[in-house]
Amino acid sequence: MKRYHVTTFGCQMNAHDSERIKGLLEDLGLGEAASQDDADVLVFNTCTIREKPDTRLAAYLGNAKVLKERDPSRIVAVGGCYAEAQRERIFDRYPFVDVAFGPGSIAHLQDWVGAGGHGLPRGRFGTGETRAFAAELPQHRERSTQAWVQVSMGCNSVCSYCIVPKVRGREVSRRPGEILAEVERLARDGVKEVTLLGQNVNSWGRDLLPDVRTEFGELLRAVDAVEGIERIRFTSPHPKDFRAPVIEAMAACASVCEHAHLPVQSGSSRVLKRMRRTYSRERYLSLVSRLREAIPDLALTTDIIVGFPGETEADFDQTLSLVEEVRFDGAFTFIYSPRAGTEAASMPDQVPDEVRGERLERLVHAVQRIAAERQAERIGRVEEVLVEGRSRTDAALLRGRTRRNTTVNFNGAGAVGELVPVRVEAATSTTLRGTQLAAVAA
Ligand code: 5AD
Ligand code: SF4
Repeated sequence: MKRYHVTTFGCQMNAHDSERIKGLLEDLGLGEAASQDDADVLVFNTCTIREKPDTRLAAYLGNAKVLKERDPSRIVAVGGCYAEAQRERIFDRYPFVDVAFGPGSIAHLQDWVGAGGHGLPRGRFGTGETRAFAAELPQHRERSTQAWVQVSMGCNSVCSYCIVPKVRGREVSRRPGEILAEVERLARDGVKEVTLLGQNVNSWGRDLLPDVRTEFGELLRAVDAVEGIERIRFTSPHPKDFRAPVIEAMAACASVCEHAHLPVQSGSSRVLKRMRRTYSRERYLSLVSRLREAIPDLALTTDIIVGFPGETEADFDQTLSLVEEVRFDGAFTFIYSPRAGTEAASMPDQVPDEVRGERLERLVHAVQRIAAERQAERIGRVEEVLVEGRSRTDAALLRGRTRRNTTVNFNGAGAVGELVPVRVEAATSTTLRGTQLAAVAA
């Protein structure tokens, strides 16, 4: 049996797409290899959001080149956002690559490999003009009780630093009937938790008008009504599209988890304007207040960029003060990375490397201190935990996540997929430790 190996970079949408890539290779009769070295088909599902993933990819492809030299019958495939940004140039840059495709043309890989692989001409990118939802391809699910559900592809925002609209195209929403049919299928398969995915997940539905009159809050309610689905998450929402019906649905639906990942990017209104985020610091803070009023005990996480072109010390102080004011439960922090073809890449006042690095360090420090304080507040409480498996650090413990999306390592006897009550006994800035409460006899 021929075997494949998929290496995934980047976001959860890519993790979702990789499950589809695996599914369609399995449809062709290939099995999964434990490592790249054992694989006949090597797939790289790439990311281009910052320079770092690009660099990491180059190292991985260096290894693929060596493997291919050793056995030229190996197929090297490159998909995802970096591939889409480079298109045919992939073959110039990495001449040993056999097939390349973007996030909207994953099926091209199946057609290419299915038709005999090496018999085919190389150097043409993707399938053609049409973009297709990866969600409609076969799937190899990595997790038995949790699943990603793609609700839209592409993004209509014009954030000046971001390459995503260029590589993933304009936003297209999946029809509600198709999304619900998938969620129902997953529930029948024993899935307890779904994460609705979109580049701008909460603007879902707008492009379906006037054909279908709906919005993201309504979708949350419809998914909540599916029997067997105990937890609903969604990522990533844009603050500008976080309207009242979505907040109301979050508060009303028992399955929607008490967590919002709400990328702020900067605490300075002046920088936000240059980023074209279309909200100010004040509007973001007012959204945070409305969310916290509607959903008691809400966990809030965010994404922050430091060193955006023209960011002054005073702007950066505004970011630090916003972090102190909101008190996020966690944050992904990034150094601004110029991406060719974006508006910000050609702004004249790029911030020097050492300033960007030093600001990141200060920001991470504040984020971690506050996250540790927020997690410590959970000590003594009982949290509902979805059991995911054995702890990665201590095999005697189980691992799971709370509704607020924190990983918990705990003493207990729950089965994978079970929801169990766990008393929290200790905390770090990113994880909790605890003990499962004994079942109370009825
Ligand atoms: N440089 C640094 N960070 C970026 N992000 C997006 N584009 C860039 C860039 N050019 C970050 C944003 C986004 C997250 C997925 O990646 O914070 O929310
Ligand atoms: Fe990376 Fe963005 Fe593509 Fe996700 S959508 S893989 S974060 S570039």
